[in-house]
Amino acid sequence: MSHDHPARMPAAATQRAVGSTSSSTDASGAPVPAAAMSAPAATVRAAVAPRPDAPDGTGDLVARDLVMTYGRSASAGPPALGGVDLTIRAGESLAVMGPSGSGKTTLLHVLAGILRPTGGHVLWRGRDIARMSDRERTVLRREDFGFVFQQGMLLPELPAIESVALPLMLGGTSRSEATARARTLFPPLGLAGLEKRRPGELSGGQAQRVAIARALVARPGVVFADEPTGALDQTTSAEVMQHLTQLAVHTGASLVVVTHDENVARWCHGVVHVRDGRIAGSGARIGAGTAAPSTTSAVVR
Ligand SMILES: Nc1ncnc2c1ncn2[C@@H]1O[C@H](COP(=O)(O)OP(=O)(O)O)[C@@H](O)[C@H]1O
Ligand SMILES: [Mg+2]
Repeated sequence: MSHDHPARMPAAATQRAVGSTSSSTDASGAPVPAAAMSAPAATVRAAVAPRPDAPDGTGDLVARDLVMTYGRSASAGPPALGGVDLTIRAGESLAVMGPSGSGKTTLLHVLAGILRPTGGHVLWRGRDIARMSDRERTVLRREDFGFVFQQGMLLPELPAIESVALPLMLGGTSRSEATARARTLFPPLGLAGLEKRRPGELSGGQAQRVAIARALVARPGVVFADEPTGALDQTTSAEVMQHLTQLAVHTGASLVVVTHDENVARWCHGVVHVRDGRIAGSGARIGAGTAAPSTTSAVVR
């Protein structure tokens, strides 16, 4: 199968990417900044080759009856996760919404193999992450997953190009090749010329775009983002979400975005609402009024 098979590119995302680059406002009427429209899909596609297809469903990330209780159960209150089932389809994006303390970060950390759940299963490429050893999960996070956090979490002393190249070097790629691959991501993210800047010399939006490059440079199967726009204003936030969703679509990566911002969730194919550690509802997002309603990415049982 072709690496760029149209069926692997969700209709909603394709339409949204096209729609949002041809329009000067987003669905809420907020302006889409010119910088966010300067990354043609073809440039992004050329910068990062898509992963091979996984047509057998092993590209899905599946949670089954996830339970998470912090601390010793005798002294613990209600579980942070009280039995969560969901499926994130290969190549699709899911927003996880809910009030503070509802369990969003816990869910993201369990899905990403950062935390081991108290009960339940997380299935990824034929394996149960919840049953892996710490060492196996460390390798998995490095090789299969990418991460974007609220504050970018860039190392303050590293120039942007080295921050982006680092995940490749940790995976054994030579410095010269890692740097060369990292460099290709700067123009499509609107970061050309900023390769040598340290985090203190970048705006919040630029720093988050560097973090997006770092999360995607090793071609992860899934990118996890926890409140990736939490420190940004609405306009910069829209710009960052456009880059994140566009790059994820064109690399074939699935995307899980924790947010309490409806404007951020709008960029994703699907949304689940978390209340008190449980899924309280889900649905397909209607991105910029162009998404086909058939593209529900979250299957909740
Ligand atoms: N490391 C921890 N130790 C103990 N309790 C925690 C820990 N992290 C989160 N919690 C608790 O778990 C619940 C869910 O937290 P969290 O997943 O961070 O929610 P959210 O990201 O939606 O704000 C909260 O009651 C929180 O206090
Ligand atoms: Mg949180």
